[in-house]
Amino acid sequence: MIRHATAGDIPRIVRIESQSFKDPYSPLLLMNLLSLYPTGFLLAETHQGILGYTILRIIGGKGHIIGLATDEKVRGKGVGSQLLKKALEYFKTRSAQGAWLEVRVSNKSAQKFYEKRGFQPLRIIKGYYGDREDALLLYHSLSP
Ligand SMILES: CC(C)(COP(=O)(O)OP(=O)(O)OC[C@H]1O[C@@H](n2cnc3c(N)ncnc32)[C@H](O)[C@@H]1OP(=O)(O)O)[C@@H](O)C(=O)NCCC(=O)NCCS
Repeated sequence: MIRHATAGDIPRIVRIESQSFKDPYSPLLLMNLLSLYPTGFLLAETHQGILGYTILRIIGGKGHIIGLATDEKVRGKGVGSQLLKKALEYFKTRSAQGAWLEVRVSNKSAQKFYEKRGFQPLRIIKGYYGDREDALLLYHSLSP
């Protein structure tokens, strides 16, 4: 099941964030993102609990995936694909012309995940991350 996040979900999201990223978002930043994008903050949940999340916003007519991650214990079981499918639906129903996201240039598994699902590399953003690593910008057209 995919549902909207609430403030009570933040501690669980923080745990998935810290398993997933070198520079995880803080609880405060996640709370701010939830208040800015309440309809775009989505969770994948089963009887096992919250297994993943994505944070979405639309800016300039295009969808931005601010973050997407799944619990390391359930990776490779389709949760990430479900969240990404929902993200693209979210953007399409709001008439976004495309979707984009940034990923670390070293994060080859995530690049493969997105490229297999229709995203294409657009450009490098030099020194994008806190540790100065470059980001690869991936883009998926949603135009009919
Ligand atoms: C990228 C990510 C969201 C994918 O989530 P997921 O739940 O593993 O996604 P899925 O199970 O739908 O698909 C993962 C793919 O990796 C393969 N896979 C197999 N075992 C895996 C494992 N142990 N871990 C990761 N992927 C695995 C799957 O078969 C699938 O392959 P496919 O692309 O050929 O279909 C997840 O790996 C993650 O949270 N990574 C850390 C955070 C991150 O890098 N986010 C992206 C930048 S925003």
